[in-house]
Amino acid sequence: MSDPVIELRDVTRRFGALTVLDGVSMSLLRGETTVIVGPSGTGKSTLIKLLVGLLKPDAGTVLVDGQDVGKLGRAELMRLRRKFGMLFQDGALFHGMTVAQNVAFPLRHHLALKREEEERRVEVALQQVGLPGLGRRRPDELSGGQRKRVGLARALVMEPMIVLFDEPTSGLDPVTSAAIDELIVDTRKRLGLTFVVITHDVQSCVHIADRVGMLWEGRLRAWGPLAEVTASTDPVVRQFFDRRSDGPIKVV
Ligand SMILES: Nc1ncnc2c1ncn2[C@@H]1O[C@H](COP(=O)(O)OP(=O)(O)OP(=O)(O)O)[C@@H](O)[C@H]1O
Ligand SMILES: [Mg+2]
Repeated sequence: MSDPVIELRDVTRRFGALTVLDGVSMSLLRGETTVIVGPSGTGKSTLIKLLVGLLKPDAGTVLVDGQDVGKLGRAELMRLRRKFGMLFQDGALFHGMTVAQNVAFPLRHHLALKREEEERRVEVALQQVGLPGLGRRRPDELSGGQRKRVGLARALVMEPMIVLFDEPTSGLDPVTSAAIDELIVDTRKRLGLTFVVITHDVQSCVHIADRVGMLWEGRLRAWGPLAEVTASTDPVVRQFFDRRSDGPIKVV
């Protein structure tokens, strides 16, 4: 269970004159939760886009499950993307649809399942996130925490190998954030998936991470097991971990 499922080798990505990622290398192990932190604009979302092939590196290699993402054609990229579940910031639910229709959306897009099979998989996904039986509700009839759970159910319904989370606890109060962290840890353990989480929330990072990467000015300023990174004496790393620890923080 400890081979790398994602590998970045000396990855550089520029936008015009701006070098956003500058020779970043990291190996993400199967079954682990890797948390990526770093101030706004340091390339966290860019990194995620490179993993799913929405962007290509200018130099270096991105390997996912042994495939060189930058070299894949359209059809191969579509297949690759099925290996990923994605939990978007704010859940990104469709408000005109029920919870069940939201969760079923990727299934309908990618697979033509029989109605009963689709309903079964939706209900399993809702159970996995602690929302059994809520399929008929609409997103605006749910709390913020419940909406995040629906977003996670939608990310899990395709039975992905890797789940990408963009700010899973943003906009939530500390208690609800802690519940979402708990759900992330539980789900990872139960399903044995590989998670990549972007967050600005120190508490969440400390709670869920096996491994932490801190991006800073285009480079990986810190990278390693949680305990190692949190013990770092690098002032840039300390600046992140020594922020208030009594609730979620935001780096603006
Ligand atoms: N398609 C693009 N074209 C031009 N510049 C871009 C593009 N995408 C991102 N950038 C720039 O690259 C830099 C990194 O952006 P990115 O979205 O990866 O940051 P981030 O770390 O996710 O920030 P945040 O924490 O605010 O979400 C920013 O300066 C951004 O303006
Ligand atoms: Mg971002």
